[in-house]
Amino acid sequence: MAEFSPASLGIAERAALLNALVAPRPVAFVSTVGADGRGNLAPFSFFMAAGYAPMAVAFSATNWRDGAPKDTLRNVEATGEFVVSVSTRAMAERLNQASYRYPYGEDEFDHAGFTRAPSVLVRPPRVAESPAALECRVLQVVRTGDGPAAGNVVVGEVLHVHVDASVMDGGVPDNRKIEHLVRLGGDWFASQGPATLFALRRPEAP
Ligand SMILES: Cc1cc2nc3c(=O)[nH]c(=O)nc-3n(C[C@H](O)[C@H](O)[C@H](O)COP(=O)(O)O)c2cc1C
Repeated sequence: MAEFSPASLGIAERAALLNALVAPRPVAFVSTVGADGRGNLAPFSFFMAAGYAPMAVAFSATNWRDGAPKDTLRNVEATGEFVVSVSTRAMAERLNQASYRYPYGEDEFDHAGFTRAPSVLVRPPRVAESPAALECRVLQVVRTGDGPAAGNVVVGEVLHVHVDASVMDGGVPDNRKIEHLVRLGGDWFASQGPATLFALRRPEAP
């Protein structure tokens, strides 16, 4: 086995390890607005479902390597609101462009060519090109450190859910109809669709 001690690694080496090993990860496409109403849109693959009661999700915005917080974190802390749009293969190239470090206040909806669709309960719009979106209110921001590349885990309660009727089946979203975009290490992405799915029932006996 190759052995690594994070304390003796640089940030780039830690990122290369963690991103390749905690994989694949779904990609939250997070929209926010600042206190002044200017919008922002950015992808986050440090993303997970976090609870059912209340329905909750979490994503982590790591500080830039110069120590600055990401625009998404600034907005979330200013307004307490965000929207997660579900990412699909068809969105990949434009979503990747939205990860460029545009100056604060410049909206990646415009830079990357996505369409705003109004939310119901929060101010940030959802991404019209996405088949589903979760409108969220911040419950907590958990910091894993303070300096460059430290994580800021934003935990949010899901207040409202949008799902395109074309991906629904029997009242629930059908994974055979959503080609999820997932992120791995390096520059690797994958998409998750009907060809790679298999089903298992939960065990009913020890
Ligand atoms: C697919 C993908 C996934 C990403 N996941 C994360 C992530 O989980 N956390 C993070 O801090 N940055 C992540 N990034 C980088 C951010 O999207 C990038 O830093 C972006 O510029 C942040 O935007 P903001 O400053 O407008 O919030 C990811 C980028 C891509 C392309």
